[in-house]
Amino acid sequence: MTDDRLLRVVLHGLASSPKTLPPTLFYDEAGSGLFDRITTVEDYYPTRVEAEIFREHAVEMAMAAADGAARVVMVEPGCGSGAKAASLLAHLPAVAYVGIDVSVTALTAGASRLEEAFPKVTVMAVEADYHEPFTLPALPEGRRIGFFPGSTIGNFDPDDAVHFLANMREIVRPGGRFLIGVDLWKDPAVLRRAYDDREGVTAAFNKNALAHLNRRYAADFVLAQFGHLSRVDAALGRVEMHLQAREAVVFHVAGRRFSMAAGETIHTENAYKYDIPGFGALAGRAGFQLRQTWTDAGSRFAVLLLAA
Ligand code: TRP
Repeated sequence: MTDDRLLRVVLHGLASSPKTLPPTLFYDEAGSGLFDRITTVEDYYPTRVEAEIFREHAVEMAMAAADGAARVVMVEPGCGSGAKAASLLAHLPAVAYVGIDVSVTALTAGASRLEEAFPKVTVMAVEADYHEPFTLPALPEGRRIGFFPGSTIGNFDPDDAVHFLANMREIVRPGGRFLIGVDLWKDPAVLRRAYDDREGVTAAFNKNALAHLNRRYAADFVLAQFGHLSRVDAALGRVEMHLQAREAVVFHVAGRRFSMAAGETIHTENAYKYDIPGFGALAGRAGFQLRQTWTDAGSRFAVLLLAA
């Protein structure tokens, strides 16, 4: 997003009631570093559990996704360095891999690593934000397999998730497949903790959105006046993240003045959690059919294979 457009979204969100800020603000350089640390803390289980599922079932997943095709083309929105894709590419008859990401640094480093590891695969990097329309390069023939690991799908509101899935269905075309990570609904205390870890990394990550505004738009947030809040809304099936004013506060962004009462919050992110039938139904609205599911012994996280 351009500086101007992001600023408009920010000002609109801060003038709304309840106040909101867009999650894109998390990911400046400091935020990306903090996010990498979140994935390693004890309380944040999804990354660890998903890795365990991939370790155990990578061969079976690759076979099921290829489903007899002699050539496959893998497409990964938000690929980062593409490290997760490597565990599948090793078992796929892949002719091409397309990684899409906003971070050019991650993309180029990842692409050359994949090229080295898989000399028969044409590696293509597309610099784009997959939340917005993007153009794919010309791709060779082969069954297209979309890949979206992690629990990012949970950060979309359900209707936006359907929209994203429908776009992916266009990309993989009829006969294509989509392999997606989904974090499952569970004990609310465990869910809440995953987004308020005891090492305080998620709190720092959330508060970095304010630090980012201070740096980028000369805002004057005093970080100590805000606390990190994670709360579970069972009816909506989601964990919400907020920044909560510890006292009455006044701040300025791009010359505009805002105030908050003590206890008032700025809503920064949601993480929706699903059960497998519920996610299958959601994918169905986007024209996908649920083919196969892999999960851990504790049913904490699932990797789903969808067919277009
Ligand atoms: N998208 C991931 C999730 O919802 C990553 C994540 C972990 C995250 N903690 C977060 C995103 C805090 C925003 C805020 O699980």
